[in-house]
Amino acid sequence: MLRLCVRKVLLSLLGAMLTCLLVLLLDQGQQQPVQRGLELRSRSLQSWESPGEQEEREKGQPQGAGSSPEPPARSFKEYFSELSRVGKGSGMRLQWQREQEHSEAAVTPKPFRDDISAADLFIAVKTTKKFHRARLELLLDTWISRNREQTYIFTDGEDEELKKRTVGHMVNTNCSAAHSRQALSCKMAVEYDKFIESGKKWFCHVDDDNYVNTRTLVKLLAQYPHTQDIYIGKPSLDRPIEATERISDNKMRPVHFWFATGGAGFCISRGLALKMSPWASGGHFMNTAEKIRLPDDCTIGYIIEAILGVRLIRSNLFHSHLENLQQVMRTDIPNQVTLSYGTFENKRNAINLKGGFSIEEDPSRFRSIHCLLYPDTPWCPRNITY
Ligand SMILES: *[C@@H]1O[C@H](CO)[C@@H](O)[C@H](O)[C@H]1NC(C)=O
Repeated sequence: MLRLCVRKVLLSLLGAMLTCLLVLLLDQGQQQPVQRGLELRSRSLQSWESPGEQEEREKGQPQGAGSSPEPPARSFKEYFSELSRVGKGSGMRLQWQREQEHSEAAVTPKPFRDDISAADLFIAVKTTKKFHRARLELLLDTWISRNREQTYIFTDGEDEELKKRTVGHMVNTNCSAAHSRQALSCKMAVEYDKFIESGKKWFCHVDDDNYVNTRTLVKLLAQYPHTQDIYIGKPSLDRPIEATERISDNKMRPVHFWFATGGAGFCISRGLALKMSPWASGGHFMNTAEKIRLPDDCTIGYIIEAILGVRLIRSNLFHSHLENLQQVMRTDIPNQVTLSYGTFENKRNAINLKGGFSIEEDPSRFRSIHCLLYPDTPWCPRNITY
């Protein structure tokens, strides 16, 4: 009886150790703790799938597609049957470890890396004439100053001063200045057309209350092939949006799909953008938006998810003013792709960051963030602690 008990305890200890080892193994190679955790975990799991299973999965979410073919992986089942076979002997743990070392070297796929730089991005900032002074100045002083070449301002009114300052990168869309569904879609349509014209690899849309950290943006996008169908951003809802699609004058049908909220910014690969053309180019975007009667960012999600069947890749590195920005940890700020400021639930909403500027001097905290990321900026205070 006692011996049986001891044996049971030993067995469960062994089980716990195995689990720990497996978790440790899957956790290896984590570089960006915030967002890469899940992704890497699923990638590590993928290496245990059979090539067939992997293909199945890649149809939905291209991971390494476009790079050199990955080494053949063994199936999970096969792996575990082997594990139980060697488990019969006393050298089980040793054998298991050897197996791990072997598979680490031979099976773990090289993570995909697209060789891109900031010059491959087309960043569209959507604004309105009313906010040229109140919002754009701040962006031009901060993140846009480091990304003049790839940033374009889409607005709705002439402004000679802004035009001069952005040297040809201000686009007057001639859309209405109203904050209506039609006006917003009108601007998105112009953004799309200008991106296609630009020949750049990635289209990223942000609002005039977003700070864009292009270094992390490039790092994030480099994980995906721009020639494949990639749509990446953060949903604002915790479920797909339910909409009604107008098929003809008196025929409607329900659709549901995920979309990335425009207020946090999102990116689309060139490969996918080209496929969107029949519903997005020229005047088509406005027509598509009318078909579902939803704003610009929802229409993008509708074209990509509902029409083209491509899934949104969620990233928590994008932030809008409609989330509590105080929750972004101070040490994680340099790892985020976009940040924002504004009001949320009737309270001032901004990143919680001490820095060289007081809340009164820098209510958005964008100047402080900029000095944290680019301390060599001439107007940044020297020797400050964050
Ligand atoms: C807006 O109108 C002006 C003047 O007619 C024109 O030059 C410009 O190309 C138009 N902008 C767009 C994006 O169509």
